[in-house]
Amino acid sequence: MKIITVKDYNEMSQKVAEYVIEKVNQNPNITLGLATGGTPLGMYKYLIEDHQKNKTSYQNAQSFNLDEYVGLSQDDPNSYNYYMYNEFFNHIDITKSNVHIPNGNAPDVQKECIDYEALIEKNGGIDLQILGIGNNGHIGFNEPGTSFQAKTHVIDLTPSTKEANARYFHSIEDVPAQAITMGIATIMKSKEILLLISGESKQAALSNLLHGEIDESSPASVLRNHPCVTIFADEDALRDTGK
Ligand code: GLP
Repeated sequence: MKIITVKDYNEMSQKVAEYVIEKVNQNPNITLGLATGGTPLGMYKYLIEDHQKNKTSYQNAQSFNLDEYVGLSQDDPNSYNYYMYNEFFNHIDITKSNVHIPNGNAPDVQKECIDYEALIEKNGGIDLQILGIGNNGHIGFNEPGTSFQAKTHVIDLTPSTKEANARYFHSIEDVPAQAITMGIATIMKSKEILLLISGESKQAALSNLLHGEIDESSPASVLRNHPCVTIFADEDALRDTGK
């Protein structure tokens, strides 16, 4: 794993965006794996700015999002579908039929998971996967205890994840109980992974990832087994981690 230390959130967002832009320019047919949450928002902002200024094109790129809440309609402002269009896709030239996000409102969510995994495979897998990390070390929505062999599946969100994400909802009761997420095995099949970590609240998760055991109780620790991971971490997240 390579660690790139940055000063703060803004520098992280800028550096990751520069990295992604270079990859998109090298391979306009790239398949991106995309993440939601607060962490990648700055990166999306820089990607949009660059698209407008330098005309980097996403027209032939494909995208697969990591996860989606179960039970929210696609136009619900709290759905990850809404987030992705609002924060990124509506502002670039990606072909809408190349955008893939699990449908958390599918009549049969188990089938949706199987179909989503198959679609990723059919497409030849993910070239560049962007990841954030939960306070408890989750990646995507793979909560502690998720099997490292898991493919795309439905997961019960833990109380700590519901609490962390409640800031976007009226109350914690409104946070969906479940989500569809790419599995750890799905994520690990990506050719390359960029992990974004910013802020003091992520120190423990980062420390476990770097120094803890590689164990299913700490989902992100599996990334140490991946041949091509770059971590972009800011000073607040790195403090006290020995790096
Ligand atoms: C959610 C998402 C994750 C994300 C995590 C951290 O649970 N499913 O993909 O990495 O939150 O979010 P944030 O970046 O807001 O701290």
